[in-house]
Amino acid sequence: MQSPDVVGMTHQTGPSMPVVRFREPADACKRVAAEIAALIRQRAAESRRCVLGLATGSTPIRVYRELIRMHREERLSFFNVVTFNLDEYYPIKPESAQSYHRFMSEHFFNHIDIIRSNVHLPKGTVELENVSGYCRDYEELILRSGGIDLQILGIGRTGHIGFNEPGAKRDSRTRLVRLDTVTRNDAVKDFGDLDRVPLLAITMGVETILQARRIRLLAFGEHKARIVQQAIENRISSALPATFLRGHRDAQYLVDYDAAQCLPPSFFGTPLQ
Ligand code: F6R
Repeated sequence: MQSPDVVGMTHQTGPSMPVVRFREPADACKRVAAEIAALIRQRAAESRRCVLGLATGSTPIRVYRELIRMHREERLSFFNVVTFNLDEYYPIKPESAQSYHRFMSEHFFNHIDIIRSNVHLPKGTVELENVSGYCRDYEELILRSGGIDLQILGIGRTGHIGFNEPGAKRDSRTRLVRLDTVTRNDAVKDFGDLDRVPLLAITMGVETILQARRIRLLAFGEHKARIVQQAIENRISSALPATFLRGHRDAQYLVDYDAAQCLPPSFFGTPLQ
């Protein structure tokens, strides 16, 4: 793995936040996977569990691939790991091709030794009248597990984290939300047709995410460059939910050069090493 060549700190408006820039997305994913593996092993050595907050989408797939490799080749065990996924479409059946339940099984859980009862994803099949109680229970379960040690995030083109779309409040918790039109259009590639993309989703809230002890947000590609720049430079507000991460004490962006291209070169300072 190449080391990141430059690190920038947000400084424009409000609290700062490290942004680490990598030559290749694979390098950033390996970095996050190594951090997760170290945490799992440290906790295992202390006979403690490690609670991970997980994301779906194209961005973290290589993190999961690397963790699977470490499981196979380096005996990394997930026996002590508990997971909570950020979100799920609503309504959706877990076996449906686009469900995040299926995504996580195929890209991660089917390939590691995690105890299935330690895996949690919001259910897309809860009856509408039971959803708010269900969401409270999801929050409760996170708390009872000891809280999330490390949360992986991607970022949507609307600036969403999880499915906290523009307008989401800083103190929001797990709940049913309406998906932004931009987000639904981005999901057409998975559903084939806009009419088939669900209007709603269940997502952890901004506050739920901010309570994680560490947060690692990954963003790759030119199509993420503008929103990354805005998330880092705009005023912290509900208009762009990812800006709330800047108040967190251990949050980091890990980006590739394409996703960093709208940040001013001066932002990154002198190359390391
Ligand atoms: C997924 C999630 C979303 C994605 C975001 C980026 O669980 O919560 O916030 O992280 O939409 O998606 P990709 O990685 O597909 O660009």
